[in-house]
Parts: sequence; C-alpha cells; structure tokens
Amino acid sequence: MKRFRRLRQSEAMRTFVREHEIRVKDLIYPIFVTEGETAPVPSMPGIHQYALNDLHEELDRVTAAGIPAVLLFGIPEHKDEIGSEAYNENGITQRAIRFIKERYPALLVIADVCLCEYTSHGHCGLVHEGHILNDETLPLLSKAAVSLAKAGADIVAPSDMMDGRVAAIRQALDDGGLALTPIMSYSAKFASGYYGPFRDAAGSAPQFGDRRSYQMDVPNGREALREIEDDLREGADMIIVKPALGYLDILARSRDAFDVFTVAYNVSGEYAMVKAAAQNGWIDEKRIVLENMLSLKRAGADRIITYHALDIARWLGD
Ligand code: PBG
Ligand code: ZN
Repeated sequence: MKRFRRLRQSEAMRTFVREHEIRVKDLIYPIFVTEGETAPVPSMPGIHQYALNDLHEELDRVTAAGIPAVLLFGIPEHKDEIGSEAYNENGITQRAIRFIKERYPALLVIADVCLCEYTSHGHCGLVHEGHILNDETLPLLSKAAVSLAKAGADIVAPSDMMDGRVAAIRQALDDGGLALTPIMSYSAKFASGYYGPFRDAAGSAPQFGDRRSYQMDVPNGREALREIEDDLREGADMIIVKPALGYLDILARSRDAFDVFTVAYNVSGEYAMVKAAAQNGWIDEKRIVLENMLSLKRAGADRIITYHALDIARWLGD
C-alpha cells in the first residue's frame, strides 16, 4: 500500500514537504486615494478611501508590515466625459504617487490605468451614442499612463480592456523617455459580478449599460489565453488574471502556456464575501483567507493583489 500518511504525521513533517507557502513579499495591497474626505467603504470592512493628508497612516502600516507594493486607485472630485483627471499632472493619483515616492521611496507604486474612476459615465473608455469607443480611447489611456509614470509610478497597470492598449501605452512610454517603466497588464479581466464593492469604493459604476462589450465573457477560457498572448506580444512585462478564486483554471493554464510573471487579483467581491461570513462567525477568517491565498499560489500565481494583505501580514507574523 502507498502510505501517503507517512508524510502527514506531524507538523514538522508536513512543513518539510510543503510545496507552496504564502509570504508577505507575495502581496500587493490596493489603496484608494480620494480628493474628498477619508471614509470607510461600507461593503469592504477594514478598507477606506484615504484623503492625501491621511494616506501616511495606511502607508506606515503597509511598510511596517513589509508589504512590497501598493496598487493605487485615484478618486477625483471632478469627473467628465473624457476623464480629464486621469491625465492631469496635478490629479489626485499623480499627487498621491509623488507623495508616496517622496516619503516611502522603497515602496513600489503600481498605478492602475483606466478612465472609469474619472469619467462621468463610469465607463473605461470614451462613449459615443451609447457605444464604448476603442481606438479613440487609446490616446487617453496612453496619456494617463505617461502622466502616472512621470509622477513616479514604478509600474503601470492598464485595466480598461480596450484592444491594442498595451502597444499604445508602450509606444507612448517609450516616446516619453519612460522606456524602463514596466507594464503589468490586466490581460485576462472578466466582466464579473465580483467587482461590485470596488465600484462603491471607487465611485466607478457605469451610469448606463455594463462592461460586457470590453471585459471578457465569463465562460471563455481559451479566449483568455489568446488575450494574454496578445498582450505579451504587444509588450506587457507581467500579466494579471482577474478575478482570482473563480478563475484558478485560467491562472493554471496561463502559467503552463507562458513563461511570464503572473499576478492574481483577489477582487473586492471575493474580499467582501469572506469578511461578511467572518463577521457573522460562520467561518474562521484567518484559515479561509490563507487557504484562498495558497490556492492562488498553487494554481500558479507569482504575486497576489489582495485587500487582505495587512491582515495576512499580521497573521504570518503571529
Ligand atoms: C477599473 C478597475 C476595476 C477593478 C480594478 N480596476 C473595476 C471594474 O473594472 O469594474 C476591480 C477591482 C476589484 O473589484 O477589487 N477598471
Ligand atoms: Zn475601468
């Protein structure tokens, strides 16, 4: 008989043969910076929108915990049809980046590149007669990426899902003297119900329609691989699969197919569900979160973007 239990008989033995582990160095923490007042996000317990003046409190916690990188989302006061604040060099996100790089130079700043937090209609691209325009949106995304990189972002992360945006952004960065700014592309981003709490947090819910004409259709796995392949060909340095937990197949297949640094985005709805069940005493939060993170590592994630990052760092330190 093959006795699998030989290697499970003690904690020391189990630790010895463990294939994967979760480390604080694997985590990327999303942060919302607002031009308004600091406020909690009701659907995401523990998460706040931070005014620039209060941002240092959160960043002190992040750096003390040893979390290596943050993913930054800006929430502007002023929104318009063309998302002007996304590429305003004095926009909230650009100011936040300059502040972080000045005060916390060793912390990696990944800037989300999209228009939806900045547009009055809440879509990720320009809108014409109810349609989301693709090619016309590319120059605006490129301008946003360049202005975020100029403000000091270490990495830009386009999340809009317009076709051709990685190539456009790469070209604009190169032309702008930013050839060394890497692109972490949200390559396989699905039109998911799991983004609900984020849209409250970022005030970016579409005012009409939905995002299904640009984000991926949930049932399509092979298409996700083609999206990733195309982004790599266009010049993506790293890729993101999003959401994470329902999409472990995409992560695993992508990891097998492409030799590229792969990031899983454990999104707002995934976080909210765990928090809600934990607050009701229905699950053991620490155990469930660590299990979720290990599942992502096992599926092939090199790094994980997660709102649980500060909690995880605390638990790993315990
Ligand atoms: C913006 C963006 C979204 C998320 C990350 N970047 C929202 C969306 O596409 O609707 C979702 C993140 C989350 O749910 O945690 N394009
Ligand atoms: Zn968007």
